[in-house]
Amino acid sequence: MNKISGPDLSFAVAGVNFKNPVIAASGTFGYGSEYTSIIDVKKLGGICTKGLTLMPRAGNNGMRLHETPAGLMNSIGWENPGLEVFLEKELPRLRILGPAVIANLSGSSIEEYTEGARLLDASSVDMIELNISCPNVKAGGMSFGLEPEAALSVAEPVRRVLSHKPLMVKLSPNAPDLIAVARACINAGADALSLVNTFKALAIDIHKRKPVFDNISAGLSGPAIRPIALRMVWELREVFPSVPIVGVGGISASVDALEFLLAGAAAIQVGSATFVHPATMIEIIGGIEEYMIQYGYHSIGELSIR
Ligand SMILES: Cc1cc2nc3c(=O)[nH]c(=O)nc-3n(C[C@H](O)[C@H](O)[C@H](O)COP(=O)(O)O)c2cc1C
Repeated sequence: MNKISGPDLSFAVAGVNFKNPVIAASGTFGYGSEYTSIIDVKKLGGICTKGLTLMPRAGNNGMRLHETPAGLMNSIGWENPGLEVFLEKELPRLRILGPAVIANLSGSSIEEYTEGARLLDASSVDMIELNISCPNVKAGGMSFGLEPEAALSVAEPVRRVLSHKPLMVKLSPNAPDLIAVARACINAGADALSLVNTFKALAIDIHKRKPVFDNISAGLSGPAIRPIALRMVWELREVFPSVPIVGVGGISASVDALEFLLAGAAAIQVGSATFVHPATMIEIIGGIEEYMIQYGYHSIGELSIR
């Protein structure tokens, strides 16, 4: 088919334009420039940075990654150079790559989150993804994402300091009532929601007779979590039909991505699959386009069956 009459994969969320719905997930794509010699990074719809904190973080001690038969467990713990270094050194390199830039903002206190948001609001990032769902840190992180009151307590002040950038909140699948947490974030003024972050999980080294990770538990990602993440996206779409949802969790091929888009996700993020096969996201973009041609879709927004 002639490219000019091909399907339009572009879309916009809260005023940010994406050339296609495939975004590199936080923590799995560095700051983008690390991948330029491996894949054609400019083809991606967006790049989400590793979790950024106000001050530099060394990350967790001990084992950080552990493979399971259908997934990956991680306990990285926000290793990052801090926002100042990110803004000065990484962001200029990331900005010129082409895809929309999403900064994943993490923190241990409301003050750390709001101060970080203030710095990002004055920067050239396109959007902020508020990470209230990391299961691998002792203070902050997921503890803000488990209950609606806690989510509101950080999303509201962060929203208040943002006068230029849209806010997407990244939800935890470990929340006992995900809908209630999502509602609190929407009430706080979130422009979009992304889900899921990793599932709190455990592995034991039977020879050392102790947990594999120093923090005991770690976050499970990869194909094992995909059907659960998809069900969560479906349920959120049901309750909040007008809020853009970015689906994440075990997406490894275009068929997986299409499931999320059909379930009502506006876009998808790919994480662990990039470690296995770095060209996964590029292939997914091609696969979505082929599917749209096969079934006569003109624009990406038409895909949703919801
Ligand atoms: C090694 C690793 C590091 C991660 N770091 C972050 C992070 O800093 N911030 C965040 O919000 N999510 C982080 N995540 C979660 C991913 O962005 C994604 O939500 C999750 O892995 C599910 O997607 P996947 O199954 O495609 O990997 C990390 C995941 C992995 C595997």
